[in-house]
Amino acid sequence: MGKLKIIKYGDNVLRQQVKDIDEITPEIKQLAKDMLETMYAAPGVGLAAPQVGISLNMCVIDILPDGKKNPFVLINPKIISGENKEEMEEGCLSFPGIFEKVKRYHTVKAEYTEINGRRVEVTVEGFLAKAFQHEIDHLHGKLFIDYLQPWKRKLVEKEIKRRKKGNNW
Ligand code: CO
Repeated sequence: MGKLKIIKYGDNVLRQQVKDIDEITPEIKQLAKDMLETMYAAPGVGLAAPQVGISLNMCVIDILPDGKKNPFVLINPKIISGENKEEMEEGCLSFPGIFEKVKRYHTVKAEYTEINGRRVEVTVEGFLAKAFQHEIDHLHGKLFIDYLQPWKRKLVEKEIKRRKKGNNW
C-alpha cells in the first residue's frame, strides 16, 4: 500500500463514530504502517483512521521529540482523566492551512492497545497530551473547530467555503 489519501473537512467520514478493533490482523498492522508513512510525509504529528476514510478505532501520533521518531499507534484508545486546561494553537491534516487556539488538558491519563496487542496505560503531558486528545476526538467524530467560539467557527467555515470554491481545498 504505502501513502494514503487524506480526507479533508466536509467529508462525512470525519463525523462518524468508529468501530472498535477486535483483532490485530496483518491488515491492521499494514494500515498502521501506512498511516504513519502518510503522517510523516504530510508532514503532521497525528493521524486518525477516519482521516484516511476508514472508520476504525485507531490513530497514530509522533511529535518527533528532539527531532527523532517516536511513533505511537493507539488502538481502541480512551482518555481516562485529564487535568490543567490550557490554550494551544492546533492544526489538523484534514484542515490544511487552518490553525486555531484550542483549550485542552495539559496532562492526560489514557489507555490503549499497542500494535503488539498489549493494553497499556500512560500519562502524557504538554504537546503530546494535546495530540492524544485531538486524535482520540477524531475517533468520536469530533474535530478541533468544534471547540471554537461560534463567531470564530463561522469565520473558519467561511474561509473553507471560499477555498472550496477556488478548488483550493
Ligand atoms: Co486532526
